[in-house]
Amino acid sequence: MFTLGINAVFHDSAACLVKDGIVLAAAEEERFTHFKHGKRPIPFSTYELPYHAIDFCLRKAGIRLKDVDHIAYSFDPYLLIPPEMKEAGSAPIPFIPGKTDLPGLHNPWDNLFYSSIVNAPDMLVDGYPHHLQKTFSGSSTSDWQWHFVDHHTAHAASAYLPSPFHEAAVMTLDGRGEIATTTYGTGKDNSLERIGQVNMPHSLGLLYERITTHLGFLHSSDEYKVMALASYGKPAFVNDFREIITLGEKGQYEINDERLEERFGAKRLRHEEFTAHHFNVAHSLQQVLEETVLEITGWLHRETGKNNLCLAGGVALNCVLNGRLRDRGPFQNIWVQPASGDSGTALGAAMWVDSRERKDAGKDFVMDHCYMGPAYSDEEIEKFLQWAKVPYRKMERVAEETAEILAQDKIIGWFQGAMEFGPRALGSRSILASPISPKMQSRLNEVKDREDFRPVAPVVMEEEAAAWFNGASISPFMLFVYEVSPDKADKIPAVRHVDGTARVQTVNASQHPEYYALLKAFKEKTGVPVLVNTSFNTLGKPIVCSPRDAVECFWTSPFDALIIGSYLIEKEI
Ligand SMILES: [Fe+2]
Repeated sequence: MFTLGINAVFHDSAACLVKDGIVLAAAEEERFTHFKHGKRPIPFSTYELPYHAIDFCLRKAGIRLKDVDHIAYSFDPYLLIPPEMKEAGSAPIPFIPGKTDLPGLHNPWDNLFYSSIVNAPDMLVDGYPHHLQKTFSGSSTSDWQWHFVDHHTAHAASAYLPSPFHEAAVMTLDGRGEIATTTYGTGKDNSLERIGQVNMPHSLGLLYERITTHLGFLHSSDEYKVMALASYGKPAFVNDFREIITLGEKGQYEINDERLEERFGAKRLRHEEFTAHHFNVAHSLQQVLEETVLEITGWLHRETGKNNLCLAGGVALNCVLNGRLRDRGPFQNIWVQPASGDSGTALGAAMWVDSRERKDAGKDFVMDHCYMGPAYSDEEIEKFLQWAKVPYRKMERVAEETAEILAQDKIIGWFQGAMEFGPRALGSRSILASPISPKMQSRLNEVKDREDFRPVAPVVMEEEAAAWFNGASISPFMLFVYEVSPDKADKIPAVRHVDGTARVQTVNASQHPEYYALLKAFKEKTGVPVLVNTSFNTLGKPIVCSPRDAVECFWTSPFDALIIGSYLIEKEI
């Protein structure tokens, strides 16, 4: 039984294909269209479906759209559409929203938004781009059963169903869904039960987004920059944030009158310098977010009595928060969905519908890695390089030769195996460098045209993690910070953030053999089992997907070498 999951409602459009409980493929639309996050989260873009990501998933399974049994869309518009509109089967859409007063609407574009979602099945059949006919044509809406899945059920399913646990508390922390912004529940075997939720307009995720905007960044995109900025600040505004976020009973919280300009001064414009003031706002937000989430997880633990916690939703990408929950929270084990933003709801919705439809379904799939996207064979890569007249050399010993290049302090593009699902590059589409030189962090930020304050993250051989990072265990998704071991700090200065921590990825040979072999070879050469890993992209662009993307990015950026499959491309300087 094939179940296709789709996220298209706000941003991070994505698709995922599940067959009998096993995830066969998953990818974000942005990697194919080169438009970051797929689209901006505005009502006009809701009708756009992730056709290219769907096409990839279907082609990977060797099927066409008409062969799919179920389609799971990670938003349920019927939770929002007023009953009278459902009955009427139509809804007015204003020409000039600001001047129109239609009853029952929070936002004048709501009807357009609902209509786009309700029409998604027809858009899938009729609206696909011309060049994707091979997989889409010949399908009709009667070929499959369509399911609108509550957005937070999709997030919760993405957190629990692919987790290694058979019993857990489940929490989603998000910007928004239909009504809920935060949910609490439990998972047991393949079932999920919701035990509480916080509703709009109270949302930790939306507050973080608004502060992101206030600090001059792009909301629904740059929240991780605010998290990085926080390390440089002082808790000067914690009392303001404690007034803004107030806690209630049973996991409830409220976001009160924010008055951001009054409290924190004028909004920073993008080109303006960062000052201590901006660092302090970010720091205070981060601190009060952590306090709040520790409180609500305390309640969730008491309420459920579980040892394990599964997390998803955009706020769960905050790896500093996750580290705090691990160190100071009540749960023994925490598993965070690597695609915790909205792209992961494609996976969650598909797994949820799959497990509901297969009555005897067990919980058999554990997401040990996220390499679920497109992969290219050496033959395909070489064919492209020859066609494009790119000078290259085939390497006989890829890991050893690449380790030698890295040991010379060169910065490389690393393109190996299936692309990652989720926002992080984790060794398939990465830029890699040696962590040994203290200058490497600023060099990488310069190469990638990023802000100076941005840290770069380490990848470490799984069995070496505990020796190099305090308390580090298996962490394949770069979702937790750990302290750099003091006795190792001077060996890997490039990855140590200003607060002494690092956002660690661990890798073993079964998760990514080529990546692991490279780390092993680098260790043999230098004694250091750690590399710097950052995403293979340039400013404002999505991570590369295809060999063409990789070669284009390489030749328009100051990297020294590109290792793509078994092939080496170097720049002569
Ligand atoms: Fe979401």
